[in-house]
Amino acid sequence: MAAPLKKKSFKSLPVQNKRVLVRVDYNVPFDKNGNVSDDSRLRGSLPTLQYLIDQKAKVILCAHLGRPKGQPNPKYSLKPVVKPLSDLLKRPVAFADDCVGSKAADAVSKMKPGDVLLLENLRFHAEEEKNDPEFGKQLASLADYFVQDAFGAVHRAHASTAQVPPFLPSGAGDLLEKELNFLQKIKADPVRPYMVVLGGAKVSDKLGVVKAFIKQVDTLFIGGAMAYTFLKAQGKEVGDSRIEPDFIDLSKEILSEAAKRKISLILPQDHLIVQDIEKPETAKTTDGDTIPAGWKGVDIGPKTLAALQPMLKKAKTVFWNGPAGIFEMPAYSKGTNGIAVALSQSAKEGAMVVVGGGDSVAAVTQAGLAKDMTFISTGGGASLEFLEGIELPGVKALPDA
Ligand code: 3PG
Repeated sequence: MAAPLKKKSFKSLPVQNKRVLVRVDYNVPFDKNGNVSDDSRLRGSLPTLQYLIDQKAKVILCAHLGRPKGQPNPKYSLKPVVKPLSDLLKRPVAFADDCVGSKAADAVSKMKPGDVLLLENLRFHAEEEKNDPEFGKQLASLADYFVQDAFGAVHRAHASTAQVPPFLPSGAGDLLEKELNFLQKIKADPVRPYMVVLGGAKVSDKLGVVKAFIKQVDTLFIGGAMAYTFLKAQGKEVGDSRIEPDFIDLSKEILSEAAKRKISLILPQDHLIVQDIEKPETAKTTDGDTIPAGWKGVDIGPKTLAALQPMLKKAKTVFWNGPAGIFEMPAYSKGTNGIAVALSQSAKEGAMVVVGGGDSVAAVTQAGLAKDMTFISTGGGASLEFLEGIELPGVKALPDA
């Protein structure tokens, strides 16, 4: 068993009747009516919040939403999160129109033990993303203790992740601890065969982690639009599919490194292709792995899925990040859904299956299969950076146990 990461737990802080600032990741998606469309991140924070409420702490929540570029912008207000959070907690949640300054301090001064207050978007202040220590100090001045529970944001070196612990006794929240322990287990001591399934649009986002994975895994499948850059690097025609020309050389290096290490790096052997993405009724499947001029890939093909299924069944550890195609459009979702179904079966048969990243999590949730997975990570970039071996600034800043 891999050694758990030894950061001080929030449970060791004497929080009774004290003000506790909790960094949560409430960067949640909204539907067109402005309602939270996936509340996994709210639910993920509940064990920490419930513990603090039971301890009669004054629970002050800080979070970011979207990328408002350091300016207040109603489009990115956290206010719409109050109701769903309050419903989940079954208690009122107060809201402060700012996360620092007199509005925040006044709202905190009205709190009673066991109360919950959500502060407005941290990123309405440019100092947050500038990782400004003074801003960290201002946030810290609202509380007696700090709990880091925003796993999805700890890969960012921002004031609320890296600059509050120097000013307050701090600890890791329940969600952060759980996430790190699952990912550490996968990274340090996976039960083999260990298979990683990567997808999504951009190779550039994931090259670092692909490089790291070919040193760790037994099998790596690359699907989604990422695969077209790799196929191009193999000299294959990919028609008008989305590729990143600047990354073809690096993709070549990765392919030869994987071959040297005898890692099976698997690319799609067939594709679902269209001429016009808006006309799914014209989609067809290719015979092989090349795509003719004038056509673009939108999903993996049936042969690829059929080849993946027994591999996923055989694997004892699987990490999945990124969809196999444009799964938001039902006509292009077969590959992604097929992976989700195969993974739910693997998990039921005892494999450790961890799913991370907004799109893959949305795919398993939409398919009603989330409950079957061993663990659903609330962090996309954070889980990839952790597995890549990059030190996470929000974790580094916390005191050791
Ligand atoms: C996420 O959704 O991945 C996290 O909340 C981090 O958000 P960011 O990519 O805008 O920093």
